[in-house]
Amino acid sequence: MELCSTVVSSMIAVFLVLHLGLIPIMAQQSELQIGVAGQAVILNCRGIPHHTDVIWKYYKAVIRLFRGTHLKGKATMTDRSEINPNTKHLKVLDLRLSDAGIYTCEYDSHTVSISLHVFKLTISSDGHFLPNEVPELTVMQNSSHPLPDLKITLFHSSNNIVRPKVSQDKTHQKYKVMLKQLETTDSGTWICHVHSDSPLINQNISFDIKVLGFQHPALERKYATVNSTVILSWQLNFQEIKWKEGFTGQLNWKQQESATAYELLDFNVTARGEQHETEKTSRFQFEIPESKPKSTIAVKLPKVRFDHSGQYQCQLVYNGKYVQSKTELVVMKVSANPVGPLPRGAETTLICQVSSPLPSNAHLCWERVNGTRMDIKKSKQHEAKVEVNVSSAGLWNCHLIEDNDRKISLNYPVEEAPVWISYVVIGASIGGSVLVFGLACLCIINGISWQRRRQRAKRMAQARQYLLENKTCQCQQ
Ligand SMILES: *[C@@H]1O[C@H](CO)[C@@H](O)[C@H](O)[C@H]1NC(C)=O
Ligand SMILES: *[C@@H]1O[C@H](CO)[C@@H](O)[C@H](O)[C@H]1NC(C)=O
Ligand SMILES: *[C@@H]1O[C@H](CO)[C@@H](O)[C@H](O)[C@H]1NC(C)=O
Repeated sequence: MELCSTVVSSMIAVFLVLHLGLIPIMAQQSELQIGVAGQAVILNCRGIPHHTDVIWKYYKAVIRLFRGTHLKGKATMTDRSEINPNTKHLKVLDLRLSDAGIYTCEYDSHTVSISLHVFKLTISSDGHFLPNEVPELTVMQNSSHPLPDLKITLFHSSNNIVRPKVSQDKTHQKYKVMLKQLETTDSGTWICHVHSDSPLINQNISFDIKVLGFQHPALERKYATVNSTVILSWQLNFQEIKWKEGFTGQLNWKQQESATAYELLDFNVTARGEQHETEKTSRFQFEIPESKPKSTIAVKLPKVRFDHSGQYQCQLVYNGKYVQSKTELVVMKVSANPVGPLPRGAETTLICQVSSPLPSNAHLCWERVNGTRMDIKKSKQHEAKVEVNVSSAGLWNCHLIEDNDRKISLNYPVEEAPVWISYVVIGASIGGSVLVFGLACLCIINGISWQRRRQRAKRMAQARQYLLENKTCQCQQ
């Protein structure tokens, strides 16, 4: 028992010595607090009783004092700071990197000391980007202590962790962080996590990334039948991401094979999000639809023609760079050769074609809708045309199928010629044959008589020659 109590009492003694020894050290040591440039920080005067006067200092310079009323000092952050009259906490607004250092709060005969460690994060282009750009972050730190070696990780706007490429200078003052190539879906609030073991720092600093672009940026194909009304539209994301800068853009049209693009319209969006559009002189008639969703660029082709097909590209321009989104308009038409009602026994070729070759997941198909029998003909892969020979009346339908979906279709009715037309045709053909036969006979008869005339003339000439020769002979004799 005795042994035991001695151990306990000696332990208490050791504890007391340690404790008493530590108190003065702890009082001198200043509490670490983290601040972020551009934001506000609240410095807490720990243990201050109510209704006590207080002086806040930055090193030796007085920031502010509170003696029943507020009084100002002359420190650099004086005009950006305020003392809370109840808690006596000091709030420093719009923090700067140079605000790092030792802050003290003095009341009665007490002094509370705080070491403020400031981080500053800047992002290239002020956080405004187009797709495929690579943002660069700069993280800087300043403190009264030796600067720690930082470990930096990022959290994507969708909260996924990102381990970026970081380079730093030897003094640990400045870190450069390279992100990846951006996509519009990267827009949002990101977090930069700064960590150090000694002193222990775990600080999250948020920053915004805005990637201006289209809601559906991939090349899209749009199918239309000739003479139908087509609306082509592009939805911009500037409202969704709260883009705060002005930008411009245009809509161009280019035919499949052609190298020249024609400008259909240009537009601009102001920093306040107001959208203006101007129609350009164009090669064909189009309209800007009256009612269209907000932040959308659109054109309406009231009666689309086969040669309106091609690439329609919407382009956004910001800061000398651009991003574009293309829609390919594919137009389908049907025709017959020869055209017109089909006489009995005759044939016609129905032609269904699209303005550009189809991708492998799409094809054209002629189908007899009604009539005497079912009939179907499909186009070969990558062909822009399908033909079918028709020898009887019926309604035919050509449709474009993509991934087993009927996208568009057109009807072509083949009518039977009325019976009298058939007779006229037959009659005409018989009449024609008779005529040809007659003409042929005439020619033959003519030919024969001409031959005879020629022979007669030849004989007469021979006789004349003969006589002449005889005469000569007589003279010589
Ligand atoms: C920092 O942010 C990440 C991501 O949102 C979160 O998981 C983490 O707990 C935060 N850390 C601190 C210290 O707030
Ligand atoms: C934006 O478009 C409007 C209307 O076309 C025009 O008056 C204005 O000058 C344009 N602004 C810019 C910055 O291009
Ligand atoms: C085909 O069907 C349409 C409508 O269903 C009808 O008007 C037409 O007379 C039909 N034609 C033939 C040749 O059956």
